[in-house]
Amino acid sequence: MNSYVRLINKDHRLPAAYIPKDLTEALFPFCAPKGNPKKFMRKEAADWAALLFAQARWDHIQLYGISAYRPYSRQQQLYEEKKALLNHPQENITVAPPGASEHQSGLALDVSCARVGYELTEKFACTPEGKWLAGNAALFGFILRYPPRKTEITGYAWEPWHIRYVTRSLALYLTLTGLTLEEFYQMEAG
Ligand code: DAL
Ligand code: ZN
Repeated sequence: MNSYVRLINKDHRLPAAYIPKDLTEALFPFCAPKGNPKKFMRKEAADWAALLFAQARWDHIQLYGISAYRPYSRQQQLYEEKKALLNHPQENITVAPPGASEHQSGLALDVSCARVGYELTEKFACTPEGKWLAGNAALFGFILRYPPRKTEITGYAWEPWHIRYVTRSLALYLTLTGLTLEEFYQMEAG
């Protein structure tokens, strides 16, 4: 349950009652007030994210955390809101159903920058900040979890802002091979 490399998606869900025990508040720039649950991550992921942000700053890149931990109930709310907006709920490839979001695990972090108004947008990928994140996340144990052209596999549209902590060794392996977490586990099973 607490594994850093756990696969979480529409087919592999977290129980509604799951709350990570080691949630800790982010110590890096974040677009949320102190104490807000969205600023929290599991301890090891938060520590590595702080190092990632510090290295970025050293490289004159200012990143901002936008959203990390999200309880089941909050994901349910977001999912219902999105469902109300869509004509075909089965085509929802942007908001995970409750239990299927990595944000509930405390291992995911949405990142943005001032240049795109702190928004979660594909435009982030073209900014120096987005490019830096894509090039350096793995060194700190994170993968860009929802790459372009992998929607069929991950179940979600391209999200250049969503990083997921999976440990440094797995992050480097996945990033160098271009495999998603789903493909990695399919390979392991095969
Ligand atoms: N936007 C991602 C897929 C989530 O809702 O967890
Ligand atoms: Zn996200």
